[in-house]
Amino acid sequence: MLQATLHLHPDFHVARVDDRIFGGFVEHLGRCIYEGLYDPENTQSDANGFRSDVQKALRGLELSIVRYPGGNFASGYHWQDGVGPRADRPTRKELAWRSLEPNTFGTDEFIAYCKSMNWQPMICANLGTGTPEEAMNWVEYCNSPPGSIYADLRADHGHREPHKVQVWCLGNEMDGPWQMGHVPVLEYASRARQAAKMMKACDPQIETVVCGSSSPQMPTFPDWDLTVLKELGDLADYISLHRYVGNSGEDAEYLAVGKSIDEQIESIDACTKVAAARARSPRRTHLCFDEWNVWYRNRGQEHTDGRDRIAPPLLEEHYTFIDALVVASFLMSFIRHADSVKIANLAQLVNVIAPVVTNHATVFKQTIFDPFEMVSTRKGGIALQGIVDCTSYVSQLYGEVSYLDYASILDGEVLKLFALNRHLTQSMEVHLDCHGFQIQRVDSAELLYHNVLDDCNSFDEPNKVRSCATNDWSLKRGITFELPPHSFLAATCKIA
Ligand code: AHR
Repeated sequence: MLQATLHLHPDFHVARVDDRIFGGFVEHLGRCIYEGLYDPENTQSDANGFRSDVQKALRGLELSIVRYPGGNFASGYHWQDGVGPRADRPTRKELAWRSLEPNTFGTDEFIAYCKSMNWQPMICANLGTGTPEEAMNWVEYCNSPPGSIYADLRADHGHREPHKVQVWCLGNEMDGPWQMGHVPVLEYASRARQAAKMMKACDPQIETVVCGSSSPQMPTFPDWDLTVLKELGDLADYISLHRYVGNSGEDAEYLAVGKSIDEQIESIDACTKVAAARARSPRRTHLCFDEWNVWYRNRGQEHTDGRDRIAPPLLEEHYTFIDALVVASFLMSFIRHADSVKIANLAQLVNVIAPVVTNHATVFKQTIFDPFEMVSTRKGGIALQGIVDCTSYVSQLYGEVSYLDYASILDGEVLKLFALNRHLTQSMEVHLDCHGFQIQRVDSAELLYHNVLDDCNSFDEPNKVRSCATNDWSLKRGITFELPPHSFLAATCKIA
């Protein structure tokens, strides 16, 4: 059995863990909005057309903030198509996913959905085919009190009180040639700067997210990021990071991917520091990891081309148990980088690369649902910097990687602990060596373990891969617990 020790001290703070790292993302893409969130014809839906069974499932994730309406979709979207009486809203050809967009769900429906779920809304403005002025008008529609044209329009639509949308993305993946309205970096920076100025002039309370490189594999990485940070200066409250990962068939390599998520965060955080140094500014732009997940199977044309249909099934990734472990690694990396990562959005929430899947009659939770729930329900507190003492292995892609992946959060007299055993065949005995505090008891703990890495949940077998409560530990100068091979544990402990 492998032996690992995690040394923790309550004074070794990273930073408070922002609740918004437990965010989500919904896009007008495939069956995410239509047939996912919104399905007025369905008997499961409420008076708003929102599917109650989907809402019930999503509540388990305890999401804090949700990004909308895209994604690539955002770069062709004109928000005025999606407000006002439904009969007057146009059906348009949607070019990002080559589908038909009926516009029966738009800004006001999204806000109503967020309210019903207690989510903070986050909107991605169109800086592809849209203008800075259109983005500013959207801010006015959402946030201004009645008395000017777009705020009055909102009131005419039955929403006198402003929607108070605080976080606004200045476009989506604008470094990508696939993006509608993609332009070279200086042109994007100029467009984003104008938009940010006008949007903030309309509502000085808003926070902006400037587009960073759409992945570390892009040739734009990290020069694009450095340039936009330099050009936008104080107008960029956050810079976006995106990351989709996949399994090449080498499971040990796949489980090592968390190391490269750390590196991606640290590289872009370094860019923010360089930009601040250049500007002689004490101010820091934080990171908004506003798209992340496993996505590698459903990427071909048959999965991304909607062929002019409304709500075609696109990007319907079917997640395995090992994918769930990788999702846990993303979340632990965000916690370890609590000083820089302030927002993160699981992409996406329903049907499209999602933890929840619907058919006409019911829903099931994919394997990736449980790790998100295990961590998100333990939000709140300060991330601790631990020291790991454990053997490692050499990954071809990522170099030396410890078999133990971990994160911990201190919340008053409660310690929340997360641990992943990356070893594919050996169990691991993990000893938590507590300096300056003692563990009194374990209040709850769940283990995510399954013997077959490729197993999935489905409508027929919805509970094939599930986390289980566990009480397999001993308390003795700290705590010792055993992690089976390829497993993930989350625990909540009372400390003194
Ligand atoms: O989430 C699916 C797509 O992935 C988004 O629309 C885009 O931003 C990213 O490339």
